[in-house]
This record gives sequence, C-alpha cells and structure tokens, in this order.
Amino acid sequence: MKFHVLTLFPEMIVQGLSPSIIGKAVEKNIIALDAVNIRDYTLERHGKVDDAPYGGGAGMLMQAQPVYDAYRAVAGDRKIRTVYLTPQGRRFDQKMAREFAGEKEMILLCGHYEGIDERVLEEIVTDYVSVGDYVLTGGELAAMVVIDAVARLVPGVLGNGASAQEESFHNDLLEYPQYSRPEVWMGKSVPSVLLSGNHKEVEKWRLEQSVERTRTLRPDLYRRYEQRQRLIGRLSKDKRNQIPLMECLAGGQGRIVGTVGEDVAVYHRESGVCMIKASSAENGRYLLGVCPQEARRYLVSRDFMRNLLLERGYRELLVCRQFLYTRKVPLPVRHKDIRRLDAESLSCIIALCGMQNRAYLKERLCAGALYGAFVEDRLVGFAGVHAAGGVGMLYVAEDFRGNGVGASLESYVINRMLERGHIPYGHVEPCREAALRLQEKLGLYQAGDTFYWLEKQE
Ligand code: ADE
Repeated sequence: MKFHVLTLFPEMIVQGLSPSIIGKAVEKNIIALDAVNIRDYTLERHGKVDDAPYGGGAGMLMQAQPVYDAYRAVAGDRKIRTVYLTPQGRRFDQKMAREFAGEKEMILLCGHYEGIDERVLEEIVTDYVSVGDYVLTGGELAAMVVIDAVARLVPGVLGNGASAQEESFHNDLLEYPQYSRPEVWMGKSVPSVLLSGNHKEVEKWRLEQSVERTRTLRPDLYRRYEQRQRLIGRLSKDKRNQIPLMECLAGGQGRIVGTVGEDVAVYHRESGVCMIKASSAENGRYLLGVCPQEARRYLVSRDFMRNLLLERGYRELLVCRQFLYTRKVPLPVRHKDIRRLDAESLSCIIALCGMQNRAYLKERLCAGALYGAFVEDRLVGFAGVHAAGGVGMLYVAEDFRGNGVGASLESYVINRMLERGHIPYGHVEPCREAALRLQEKLGLYQAGDTFYWLEKQE
C-alpha cells in the first residue's frame, strides 16, 4: 500500500514515522510513504502558498493552485482516495482504518493556517476525516495517526505474524500489569505465577488483574463488563442457539443496545450487524426500535422477527442452520499447505469463485481473516472468519472437491478460532447438502432454531 502525504512539512511526516514499525515496513517495501511538499508546486515567487480570505476574517488560507498541482503530480488521471484531515471531518476509528487498509494507494492532505480554499477541496477530496474533537495546528499529526493505524493492518507490517483479526478480539477490560527482567528490582519481585510456566494459571491471573484494575480505575467500563458477563451467563443456558450473541459479547465487540426481560439486542460494531434474541413479537418490536440506525444487517432466529424485518423493508439474505464446535481439542488438518491470505490474493480468489461479494472478500482479506489451500502454489480453496465472527466463506475449486480440501480448510479455521479462545460456529443453508454433511463429519452440533440474515435495502 502507498501513502502520499500532501503537506507543507514533509520532514515532519518522514522523520515522525521513520523510526517506528511503520518506518521498518517502508524499508522492507511492504508499504510506501511519499511526502510531497505542496510549496514545490506554487507558481508564486518566494514560495508563497497562502493568501487572505475573501470577505475578510482572521488568518490566511492555503490557495487552491499549489494544492491542486501537487495533487495532480501524484494522482495524474487516476482516481485515488483522497483524505483531507480536518476537525470538521468524520471521526476516525478502527472501522475506517480497516476500510482505508483495503486501498492500494491513498492521498492524505494536510491543511494549515485557517484551512484550504474550498474549491480545490470540492475538486479532489473524497473523505473528510478528524482524529478527535480538538484543533491541531495542522493536519500532519492527524495524517500520521491515520497512516499508523492503517499501515499496521496491512499484512506483514506487524512482522511477527500477529494479525489485526487476532488483536481486535479484546474486550473492554484494561491491560493487566506486565514485567520483564530482572526478577527482583528495587526489592520488588515479579509475581511468582508469571515464573511458574503454567499458562492456564498465568491467563487466569492476568484476567483477574485486568478485572480488578478496571473495577478500580474505570468503574464505567467495569459496569459494562459486569453486565456483559451476566448476560453471557444467561445466554449460555441455550448455547447452541445463542452462540453468535455470546461470542460477539465475549470478544468485546458487541454493544448491548437493549434488554427486555430475558431478551436482548446486541450491535456488533465492526460488521454493522444487529443480533436479536426475542421470545415474543412485542419484545422483538421494542428491541428493533432501539437498534442503531447504522445497523446494516440483522441476525434473528424467529419467524416473527423475520416478518417484522420484512415488513420494515429489509431483504432476506439467508435462511440457515447454525452449527457449533463445543470441544476444545483442535481438529486434524490433512491438507498440509494452508496459509493466511493477504490483499494480493484477491485476484486469485475472484478467478476461483467469480465476482460475487468482491468488496466483502477484499475487506476480509485485509482483516487477515481468510485462509487458502494451495496445491503446487495454486489456490484451490479458501475459508475464513466472517466480520460478525462466524466461520464460513468456504469455497473449493470444482476439480478439487470430494478429496478433503474443504474439511481441512474448515478444520484449520476452527483451530485458529480455538487458539484465540473462541467457540467456533457457522451458518449453512439447508439446501447445501455437502456443507451440512461436512459439519456432521467434523463433529459440530446443530442448533434447534432456524436463523435468518436480513439486510437493509439501499
Ligand atoms: N487538523 C487540525 N485539527 C485536526 C483534527 N482534530 N483532526 C484532523 N485534522 C486536524
């Protein structure tokens, strides 16, 4: 991925980022950073790039011409996503970072003085982005924040095989305390459990520390954590049916948007999916009313919920059965060449399965959530983890079906989920007989309910 930064202070960008992990990724050509000095493009003598605003008022404005010429020098006739950093923009968050990470190239435009002539912004900017509700002296620090957050999602940048997918499975507890050598410093010893070599005990201790820290330092977060744990406990009585809600809550990505009696609606931020458990149409109607406007999809499990959504103009995407893997032991994987895929694999995936869901597959690739099976370096199948947490997207090339590639791929993804402490689950349409047989063969349990995915019609 290539970042072009249009700025009056290119050295700030280069020097600010080069000592970090981002700088290392630039050295290794995993990403590219191109800081362009807008001043190099002014037609004014003495390098002037600003002038007073028409209509009067304090301060100076950056003029349209040098900004436009710097932009054209980078973009030529190509259409490149161009972000203007401004406190008036949309608030930057992890979801936006993920979206930007799907681009091959992007331009970041840094303003100064009182801003930039509106006409050039209208001409070139695709996104107005703010890094927070405060005013900086220029866009450079904001551009660096965006580059750092986006670049670390590009496969290979974090180096040690860690992926954004893994890291995003935290919950909203504070970090536990960490210790390094020496074992005793200023008379203070490292807690003995950390030296025990017992991973289970270490994990338990770390969770306890996180919970305790959160309780004392962030009572607001702690209340949310407690409410969530209580809800997970209640849902676990009907685990086979409620696993998507439980997983979404346990991963810390689900926000409880409403409860009524034993019923609940949870919004999964990253995927824009609302999951609702409702035991009556009345409760369902109430919970639908409190779901956020931006929810794009719904996962529900009762006919009346499906009908309520259809009445509201939602489109049915899938009717499916739900399967879950409740054991902790990893499944055997017979096919030996399975690897995590990256954004570069998109063309191979499209060649394999056609053009459906191109944007979604690209987003999942960028999240490091897709795995491919290879035969002599040819991609012959893939599977992965959906944005909302389910295992799926299984596809195997026709000439490789029936010889265990699909089973290996699904097992491989299930094993990755187990490593991260999840209970793997997935959805299968009843008409897909081979996929149903595969779930049975791998030892997954089927839930009693039928599940419906519905989508907002644009
Ligand atoms: N430029 C000045 N302040 C900013 C902010 N808060 N976010 C993005 N760009 C900015």
